[in-house]
Amino acid sequence: MEASIKSNQLLRRSFGNYFKWGVSTAAFQTEGSCSADGKGESIWDKFTTRKGKILNGDNAHTACDFYSSYKQDIDLVKQLNIPNFRFSIAWTRILPNGTGTINQQGIDHYNQVINYCLHVGVEPWVTLYHWDLPQALEDKGGWTNREVVDWFSAYVNICAENFGDRVKYWMVMNEPAVFTGAGYFLGIHAPGRTGLGNFLPAIHHAVLAIVAGAKIVREKCKEAIIGTTFSCSHIEPYSAHPRNISAAKRADALINRLFIEPILGLGYPMDDLPVLKKLRKYFHPGDEDSMSFDFDFIGIQNYTREIVKYSFFTPYISARLVKAENRGVPLTDMRWEVYPPAIYEVIKKFNAYKNIRKLIITENGAAFPDKVEQEAVHDVKRVDYLQTHLQQVLRAKNEGLKVDGYFVWTLTDNFEWAEGYHPRFGLIHIDFETQKRTVKDSGKWYAKFLNDTV
Ligand code: NOJ
Repeated sequence: MEASIKSNQLLRRSFGNYFKWGVSTAAFQTEGSCSADGKGESIWDKFTTRKGKILNGDNAHTACDFYSSYKQDIDLVKQLNIPNFRFSIAWTRILPNGTGTINQQGIDHYNQVINYCLHVGVEPWVTLYHWDLPQALEDKGGWTNREVVDWFSAYVNICAENFGDRVKYWMVMNEPAVFTGAGYFLGIHAPGRTGLGNFLPAIHHAVLAIVAGAKIVREKCKEAIIGTTFSCSHIEPYSAHPRNISAAKRADALINRLFIEPILGLGYPMDDLPVLKKLRKYFHPGDEDSMSFDFDFIGIQNYTREIVKYSFFTPYISARLVKAENRGVPLTDMRWEVYPPAIYEVIKKFNAYKNIRKLIITENGAAFPDKVEQEAVHDVKRVDYLQTHLQQVLRAKNEGLKVDGYFVWTLTDNFEWAEGYHPRFGLIHIDFETQKRTVKDSGKWYAKFLNDTV
């Protein structure tokens, strides 16, 4: 079976010596121990108790038990030759009520995780917010309340002061379009709110918080390399009909441009998605000057492409995504199309923004139905997914496009939000009954590739 792991001449050295290689994770999806050592409740702790919200009624009480098993998993990162490990800090471990009294046990925990990374020779990359807002703050309006910018700033300040002497790489926020869209408009993610009245203020406050957080890290940690991450998909119109072309343009404004453009100082893409003009209602005087930051790097996260069709019935945007399962294309377990050129296209798209300094793929990966057979997982489709996507990254690099790193999503199988444990994205399989780890063929391939021996 090892023989099936062919790399088609894909070599680490082709990407150059300065290319950052890594693997990404997130606190809520992996840690478990959701009330241990003084941790407060997050919106995801609460949301997972709501009937019908999570597939199979799964919760993240134990998840991958990363809270207790972090040494074992960081050892695995090292064994797989992965030099950079991205994880997130749970706000509710640091400030159980979101603001106010610091929980020293939370600080101690992340100090141990950071120190262990450094001890084994793995560089920690810290995400400050990966969707797990303290429930106490949600009870005061969460991302719809402008005070969230101050709450977040106070939390970031504590993280910068406590971890900034050792953490060099920071990402302020993960995929704001997803946590505001799924959590505050569609209601399918925590906190389960719906409608424009929640979505629009959440967007604007998230932009202000990203910038405020980045400024604090810059101020407190002089050596810090600061980024933030965005979800993005390659978008194509369903046909050349002008109505589909303009629908694709609106979808692109929502999916790809909504957050990056204000942050780069270009403002919200209101001309291409007129409903965004309603954001002005949430502006305070001077906001225009507090919406952009000169990031050291921008993280982009890509998994697929979307085909967009005009739709009279979809409010605000008059566009809808044509489901991949109706298009006769190869699918992952998330029912997302496998389409490797998408990653090349998004790299090219983001290269058009001239003031991005460095561009790092902070997530890419795929969920497939893996099985353990005689202590091995022959995840041929994932190996192929990673290799074909990396070939497209290399294509972009060889064409002279800016692309400075690549992080696989994710280290171990974990809690995939509303989809529960069903989709398995890991390089390492977890038996959630026993917590046993089995390195998949994809993990073995990535290790060899990073060792530059394939
Ligand atoms: C984006 C998110 O950052 C991560 O939490 C999620 O698990 C993956 N994509 C896969 O959906």
